[in-house]
Amino acid sequence: MQVEEHRPIRYDEREWRPRPTLAGTDYTSEEVWQEERERIWFGDWVVLGRTEEVASPGDYVVRDLAGESVFITRNEAGELKGFYNVCSHRGTKFLDDEPERGHVRKAFKCPYHAWTFDLSGRLIGTPNVREDELFDRSRYPLFGFAVQEYAGFLFVNLAPEPRPLMEWMNEGAESIAMFERYRLDELRIGVRIVYEVAANWKIVVENYNECLHCPSVHPELVQVVPLFRFGEVWDEETRDDGNWMRDGATSFTMTGESQLPKFPDLLPEDYQMYYGAYQFPNLMINLHPDAVMYYIAYPKGPGHTTVVSEYLFRPETIADPNLFKPEPVVELWDLISKQDWEVCERAQTGVGSRAYRTGVYPRQDRFLYDFNERYRKQMGRPLLG
Ligand code: FES
Ligand SMILES: [Fe+2]
Repeated sequence: MQVEEHRPIRYDEREWRPRPTLAGTDYTSEEVWQEERERIWFGDWVVLGRTEEVASPGDYVVRDLAGESVFITRNEAGELKGFYNVCSHRGTKFLDDEPERGHVRKAFKCPYHAWTFDLSGRLIGTPNVREDELFDRSRYPLFGFAVQEYAGFLFVNLAPEPRPLMEWMNEGAESIAMFERYRLDELRIGVRIVYEVAANWKIVVENYNECLHCPSVHPELVQVVPLFRFGEVWDEETRDDGNWMRDGATSFTMTGESQLPKFPDLLPEDYQMYYGAYQFPNLMINLHPDAVMYYIAYPKGPGHTTVVSEYLFRPETIADPNLFKPEPVVELWDLISKQDWEVCERAQTGVGSRAYRTGVYPRQDRFLYDFNERYRKQMGRPLLG
């Protein structure tokens, strides 16, 4: 099938006619879900955490990626390595899901027949199997895949021939590459909240990318970011589509203030701004003058998404108990998050109705349409234009 080039929708797009949403079945069908797994979750780059989670050789993190258990580790040379959580002997899953972070000294050992693999995935130990059986260990490494780091995030790509990370990263209307001045690679996780949301991952993404719901769902948020009262997500006048916080506000909190030290060396206007960006398919990032909060969505089937919400701060802030007062930022975001998940779950119920075929996007929802076009492209479907 011929797929034309997907032209990202620009924030200055003036012409708009109402466009259709995805179909109800795109959010509920097992068949669509299986195709998404192959084409989106296992077919291109996705984010799977932070490099600080695998800071030293032998550190590892186990993640469920759309139903595939995988892990990422760091070898003695300091390189990031990604593997399916599957033994090459007879397929046994060898690391547990919990705790999802751990450390091995030199090797991973399968709990079944105790075969061991080094930090680069090479098979190095096969108790009771002798070399004189003509058994060539080098032929049975772990099943690996590509891992790369950008801005402190771990990106993985399970495709046999992954395309360059930056080509993928710059494909959409927004990219975390726009925010180098926040020095995301230096920031560290200070707070982590995990939400279980009974909604399709695309409903979570679509909800993130529109603000028509803000006045009715987020009364506290629209106090902090006045533009959101009008259902807009993009301030078309500002750099990188930032949104001004209300007059005098310097932190994303109910009071507009916090005791957290500000990030150094931002642009002067950044200290009064909120920026949000979406990186297809599963990273939603929010940048503030003193904190960064992102969601990583982990789909668990058509009707369920685990959303990990992590808050980043300067390491020197986290290290100092007198400075590290994240509560006001966390309080506001946690409130907004729960408000969002509730409407996402309502939306999931409704799109599953036999009455629902597709809905409609007015202009304020244009970024959702952009997401849907990117989705169609990734799924090998014709674009609607
Ligand atoms: S299945 Fe892993 S050692 Fe046998
Ligand atoms: Fe929301």
